[in-house]
Amino acid sequence: MVDMSVNIAGVTLKNPVTVASGCFAFGREYNEFYPISELGAVSSKGLTYQKRLGNDAPRITETPMGLLNSVGLQNPGIEDFVKYELPFMKEVGATVIANIAGKTVSEFAKMAEILDETEVDMIELNVSCPNVASGGMAFGVSCDAVSEITSLVRKSTKKPVIVKLSPNVTSVADIARAAESAGADCISLINTLLGMRININTRRPILKNNTGGLSGPAVFPVAVRMVRDVYKAVKLPIIGMGGITTAEDAVEMMIAGATAVSVGSANLADPYAAYSIVNELAEYFEKNNLKPSDITGSLIEY
Ligand SMILES: Cc1cc2nc3c(=O)[nH]c(=O)nc-3n(C[C@H](O)[C@H](O)[C@H](O)COP(=O)(O)O)c2cc1C
Repeated sequence: MVDMSVNIAGVTLKNPVTVASGCFAFGREYNEFYPISELGAVSSKGLTYQKRLGNDAPRITETPMGLLNSVGLQNPGIEDFVKYELPFMKEVGATVIANIAGKTVSEFAKMAEILDETEVDMIELNVSCPNVASGGMAFGVSCDAVSEITSLVRKSTKKPVIVKLSPNVTSVADIARAAESAGADCISLINTLLGMRININTRRPILKNNTGGLSGPAVFPVAVRMVRDVYKAVKLPIIGMGGITTAEDAVEMMIAGATAVSVGSANLADPYAAYSIVNELAEYFEKNNLKPSDITGSLIEY
């Protein structure tokens, strides 16, 4: 077996294929299809300080080559995650990224303190959710807010901190630089692109929240471009995501600059999607006699 391990901020992932927050819950259902310990890491559903039911339905609709969602961070809350979900994830051998979304700056810090005492491997700051009334993307579009949250979380935990960036910005490189200067260990991107669909008969938005976040293959070229922009801007490792459905997509994202990739919406269409990518990626590396570090950032630009 080819060695596909990658290192992110001192944490060894057995391969560069992780699964994206909100598209895998806590892995329980997927673990019935294949052992989720075969993945590089699992990013939890976005956790909030208190449990949330999310937005009213309809909150998901298909689009050409993608989907638009406004789930709005439905989750059991950080305490129940630590009590019930994390023990399961660790018991089955998963490397766990806890994805957190504070309503306020201090809520991010409070959650990081709680997670510091647990077996969570890394903490991912979701400063990029487009579907919540407070926090979320409002933080992720401002260099100052990203910097403030990152440095406060940095002081609240010794765990590696990943900052997950929004594509809904003028310069993703500027936001990545702000996260790096404030002490982030890794950058993940992209979260969903803010979008909208309208029912032409009722003239009402299809989603009850009016707007939603676009994901899936439709966003892949945007994600590749943004990973390349961030790779050029910072020295931190990058977890690249947005529309990955095949091992070829994963390789392309790595060439753009990603050390690891994350598979999101594809899991919703095919429960084996991420597992198939792990296996096909192993074949790719073996056949070409390469290892992950040979391709990360190996883009040759014109
Ligand atoms: C239904 C759904 C729920 C999501 N929930 C979260 C979340 O809780 N936290 C987060 O950081 N990102 C969330 N995302 C964004 C994904 O993690 C990912 O960044 C995005 O969908 C792009 O990847 P993809 O095109 O492979 O899905 C969600 C995406 C979808 C489709």
